[in-house]
Amino acid sequence: MSAVADVDGLTADVLAWGLPRLRDLPWRRTRDPWAVLVSEVMLQQTQVARVVPRWERFLERFPTVAACAAAPLADVLREWQGLGYPRRARNLHATAARVDALGGFPQTLEQLLELPGVGPYTARALLAFAFEIDAAVVDTNIARVYARVAGERLTPKRVQAMADAACPSGDAWVWNQCLMDLGAVLCRPEPSCVECPIRTRCAWHISRGDDPAIGSSGVSGRQARFEGSDRQARGRLMRALTEGPVERRDVAAVMQRDGADASRLVRALVDEGLCADDGDLVRLPD
Ligand code: ADE
Repeated sequence: MSAVADVDGLTADVLAWGLPRLRDLPWRRTRDPWAVLVSEVMLQQTQVARVVPRWERFLERFPTVAACAAAPLADVLREWQGLGYPRRARNLHATAARVDALGGFPQTLEQLLELPGVGPYTARALLAFAFEIDAAVVDTNIARVYARVAGERLTPKRVQAMADAACPSGDAWVWNQCLMDLGAVLCRPEPSCVECPIRTRCAWHISRGDDPAIGSSGVSGRQARFEGSDRQARGRLMRALTEGPVERRDVAAVMQRDGADASRLVRALVDEGLCADDGDLVRLPD
C-alpha cells in the first residue's frame, strides 16, 4: 500500500540524491551485527556527532557479543556513562547474553523482536544494516519524510506500509541510509525544500498547509526539558555510582532533590535493574 503515485520514481530520486553524498559514518563501514546494534541503540536518543567517539570506545571495550555478555552489567553501565537513558545499556547487556547463548544473532524480524530492548525499528535496522535483508526502517527522520510526502498524519501501520512499499528489493542497506540522510540533512523539522529531490512528489510541499509530520506516528516531538527533570536527578546518581557506592543518606544531596523524591527515584532505578540498594549503600548492580 502506498500513498505515493509513483513510488519507483520517488525511490530513484532519493537514491540519485543520496548515493553521491552518503554521510561517511563509521557504523556504515561494518556489517558486524553487534557493532550495528550498538550504533543503532546509541543513535536512538543521542546525536550522531556525540555517538561517533562513544561507539568507537564502546566497541574497543566490548568488541564482541561474548565480551559484553561476560562483563558485569556495572562495567557496561560505566562505559555508558554520559550517554543518558541507561536502560539502553542494560538492554544491550541482556541482548548480548541472549545472543551469546543462542550462538549468534537471529536473522528474522520475529526472532529479533524477542531480544531485550529490540523493537520494530532496531530489529529492521539489524536486518537492513547488518544482514542486508530487505527491511524498511522507520525512525523519526524517515517517519517525518513519509508524513510530508503523504501530506497527512500517518498511523503506525500506514507509515510502515509506505516504507515497505518504497524499499527497493535487494538495496535495503543503501536505501534506508539514503532516506535517513534525506531526513537528517534536508527534511528536518525546519526543512530545506528547495534542495529536496522529491519536493515535486511531496504533498506537503505542494499544499503548503500545516506540517503533517507534527503528531504523525514515529515522529518525535521536542525533547522534554532536562533541567529540573527526573532524568537529570537520575543521571546525577548514576554518574556518582560509576565512581563508587553512595551512602543512602547522601543520595538526596547527590541528586539535588528532597528525600521523598530521592527515595522514589532510587526505587525506580532499582526496579529497572540499574542500581542496587543494600539499605545503607546504593551501588551499581552486579
Ligand atoms: N540514526 C539511526 N541510524 C542511523 C544510521 N545508520 N546512520 C545515521 N543516522 C542514524
